[in-house]
Amino acid sequence: MTAVMDKMLENGIALAERVRDIKVSFIVRISEDAAARKKAGEDIISLGTGEPDFDTPDFAKAAAKAAIDRGETKYTANSGTAELKTAIVAEYARKGMAIETGNVIASAGAKQVLFNAFMATLDPGDEVIIPAPYWTSYVDIVTICGGVPVVVTTRGDNGFVLSPEQLERAITPRTRWVLINSPSNPSGAAYDGDQMRALLPVLQRRPGVGLMSDEIYEHLVYDDFKFVSALEALPELSGRILVINGVSKAYAMTGWRLGYGIGPKVLISAMSVVQGQATSAPSSISQAAAVGALTGPRDILAERRDDFMRRRDLIVSGLNAIDGIACANPRGAFYVFPDCSGLLGRTTPDGERIGTDMELCQYYLRAAGVAVVPGTVFGAPGHFRISYAYAQSALEKGLDRIAVASAALV
Ligand SMILES: Cc1ncc(COP(=O)(O)O)c(C=O)c1O
Repeated sequence: MTAVMDKMLENGIALAERVRDIKVSFIVRISEDAAARKKAGEDIISLGTGEPDFDTPDFAKAAAKAAIDRGETKYTANSGTAELKTAIVAEYARKGMAIETGNVIASAGAKQVLFNAFMATLDPGDEVIIPAPYWTSYVDIVTICGGVPVVVTTRGDNGFVLSPEQLERAITPRTRWVLINSPSNPSGAAYDGDQMRALLPVLQRRPGVGLMSDEIYEHLVYDDFKFVSALEALPELSGRILVINGVSKAYAMTGWRLGYGIGPKVLISAMSVVQGQATSAPSSISQAAAVGALTGPRDILAERRDDFMRRRDLIVSGLNAIDGIACANPRGAFYVFPDCSGLLGRTTPDGERIGTDMELCQYYLRAAGVAVVPGTVFGAPGHFRISYAYAQSALEKGLDRIAVASAALV
């Protein structure tokens, strides 16, 4: 319960059950704590936020400016403009997937696509299988929509990928969706084609279960890993797959709020009904900017990916040089998710025992001025998440400080 919620209750405003259990994200809390320390004059390195440090490409900005000048400042069609849907259809055709504009909805960020989908499909008590480590918002969005998150813990030594056996065990008559995220926030793990196809027999036996696939980090994959969309890997299930995507991460357009969903027409129509009573269409200008992004030069994607990969290599090797930390080399996204269980149980120079990843992250912030996010908030205790979408100098400084603070633990 937040302070704001407490205040509301004091003033006699009752809160709905669906929000009572939603806590302010620890990511927000740690970012606020870091910001307050910075304001107070402390030298803080924040490696907490999942936002690319690049600027929105000029060609996307130019498309937005041109839309303003043409007077495209009115409501658009509720599920998105024909131009944007056509650009998304062309993007998927380029990748070898045949979809139609009726399969597409554009929303105010990928987050709203998720929200629309769960509002449109979950009755109270319906279950959504969420493999951990997971992006924290999944659990909260499902809960707000009246669903029950069913968390399944995946193993680091299995690449944090959901196995068919785990999926089989988690499914009940109330299961409506399994939600996978590849590449993943927070682990950077990604499913290859075989790992995705391994889920097929289980899902074929359970015709009432949909597959939601959050592919927002698809362009950020490294080495020779080949990203595969659920639609591509599991064409047999296309009637019950919803792909979540958007321009926020690949094109550094987080503030424009533009995501999209690709799914069966009847689901897209139902999501459009929800959206129509929530926000109506996303901003007309952001939609034009997204058309500019999706139809613009593509070399920028590879350039930015290569830049992120250099930072990943720096951070993975730096972390693995620290006694007590083991960091897998992620296949994608811009996060690393090291196992810090080797440091737990040790004691700080002030005599405080560090028993959990939460305490370790608080210690890093207090003693080293580095903000990172504990794995517990992603459903995976014993880890922490670093976002490496920061300048190389900040990453180097942050790594040095984590190394010094970790070495001081005995
Ligand atoms: C896995 C994942 N999905 C979706 C989103 C949200 O994207 P958007 O900003 O487009 O709502 C994020 C943002 O952090 C994310 O990490």
